[in-house]
Amino acid sequence: MAGDIGAVIRDRLVGALRAALDIEVSRAETMLRPSARPGVDYQCNIAMGLAKRVGKPPRAVAEAIVAALESEDLFEAPEVAGPGFINLVLRSEWLAGAVGAIAGDERLGVAPVTEPRRYALDYSSPNVAKEMHVGHLRSSIIGDALLRLLRFAGHEVLPHNHLGDWGTPFGMLIEHLIDLDWDTAGDHSINDLNGFYQEARQKFDADPKFADRSRRRVVALQSGDERTMKLWQELVDESTRHFEEVYATLGIQLTAADIYGESFYNPMLAGTVDDLERRGLTEISDGAVCIFPPGFTNREGEPLPLILRKRDGGYGYHITDLATVRYWVGERRATDLLYVVGTPQAQHFQMVIAACRMAGYLSDDNTATHVNFGTILGEDGKTIRTRAGGSVKLVELLNEAVSHATEVVKERSSLSPQEQAELARAVGIGAVKYADLSSDREKDYVFTWKKMLATEGNTSVYLQYANARVRSILRKAGYVPPAGTKVLLEHSAERALALKLLQLPAAIEAALEDFAPHKVCTYLYETAATFTMFYDNCPVLKDGVPAEVRQSRLVLAHLTSEVLVLGLSLIGIDAPEQM
Ligand code: ARG
Repeated sequence: MAGDIGAVIRDRLVGALRAALDIEVSRAETMLRPSARPGVDYQCNIAMGLAKRVGKPPRAVAEAIVAALESEDLFEAPEVAGPGFINLVLRSEWLAGAVGAIAGDERLGVAPVTEPRRYALDYSSPNVAKEMHVGHLRSSIIGDALLRLLRFAGHEVLPHNHLGDWGTPFGMLIEHLIDLDWDTAGDHSINDLNGFYQEARQKFDADPKFADRSRRRVVALQSGDERTMKLWQELVDESTRHFEEVYATLGIQLTAADIYGESFYNPMLAGTVDDLERRGLTEISDGAVCIFPPGFTNREGEPLPLILRKRDGGYGYHITDLATVRYWVGERRATDLLYVVGTPQAQHFQMVIAACRMAGYLSDDNTATHVNFGTILGEDGKTIRTRAGGSVKLVELLNEAVSHATEVVKERSSLSPQEQAELARAVGIGAVKYADLSSDREKDYVFTWKKMLATEGNTSVYLQYANARVRSILRKAGYVPPAGTKVLLEHSAERALALKLLQLPAAIEAALEDFAPHKVCTYLYETAATFTMFYDNCPVLKDGVPAEVRQSRLVLAHLTSEVLVLGLSLIGIDAPEQM
């Protein structure tokens, strides 16, 4: 696809390396990067790495590549700089043609991947009978962005919500439901999931009889007792309603059909332990069946186990994750597994993945990645809390976002109250999501309303305003030039914008390479900033602008809006038409 400028240049470099040095490299190995230097569009750094292999100084290698580069139509005369950098400047005619070609393309130049994979994507994954906390918020937001990006790139994605819906706490939770006459009372709703959990916990600690009943209830649950199962299901349903409320508010695409909670794998656990035993991978330690993947030790240097079956015969989190891998790879034929879970669980996933490699549950063709993320900090630099000291309730946080956004929106717009309310939602929810997505996911980030709702800087509000501004220009112009309209890149700001618009495929590819949505955010921010520069320098609708220049600038403006809208939609953020 001509729109993928990076791919076009890389292919030329691959050809030059073959012709000049008889060396085969892949596109990725060409070490091509957009250049930040004024007057240079791209830089290729491959010569330094090849010097040894070729037995020539890097500059000579670079010169040989340049001499063999088919460039007349694509580049101005390529230059070798410094120790052997190849500086590339695209010809403006070529750029104009390429940008004109994506103007009529609904994928804006992003070609679907040639070898689609099937990803099993574990995200959100909150716990039943507990409020979703900010960690689950991050998982939901990042996971959903990856879902959208992967699908758009042409992969198949099987999202699954690994609900914490099983295990010993459910004895006490169900017993507590029974005490509340849940069986017989009409009104089935829990307003405060955390409160509910804590009540059960307190009773469990204070009342030995209740604790006893709870333990018996666990046994009843595990043996599939009908009344117990019915209550358990109601508890799960009730919690799921709360989660779905959050998903709806956030525009997270997970549905009830994507729920594969821990309970789902329960029937597979005994078989998985058997299988691992048969493969000779297990050991008994303290009466528990364990697997010790090599290389993992505790602080004392002792090997760390994954516990497959506890000494009392019970199963837990570890074995459930082994069965989960077996299910998604074995039954559902996923090629790649992604876990969007906080960094504190890094070791757990490393061990699970190592054990699955040992057992052959993951083959060489499978990848498994812990897409880890840092914590959200309050302005005091500590884990975010409510004033009362409890963890922040998500629904409250999101409502607060919308009410802050209402202030921002009011200041500026002349919309009806109804439109303003919708806009405040798009702005407020977008701001929360964007704040989360725009920083490197592995880092902690500070949650500040002021910063995330700023109309300047790398925020969703800035991008939404930028897009709304372009839309308003297009409305004023009254039309969008038809596909095939000639694009003229005479002003450097026009040229810079065209180049940026052609880099969407590269941004998506880079984001998916490291499962790093912030790379899309950075790209969109740069695009909006480049547009601002363009608009400040290149009048579009003013009198005296020649018709063909105006047409060309409208094409660029329209394309800018399309890139912003598509880019934002790929990270799950709305772009209102008017603000
Ligand atoms: N429910 C877990 C928690 O809240 C997250 C589950 C993540 N997924 C997994 N396959 N272990 O910490």
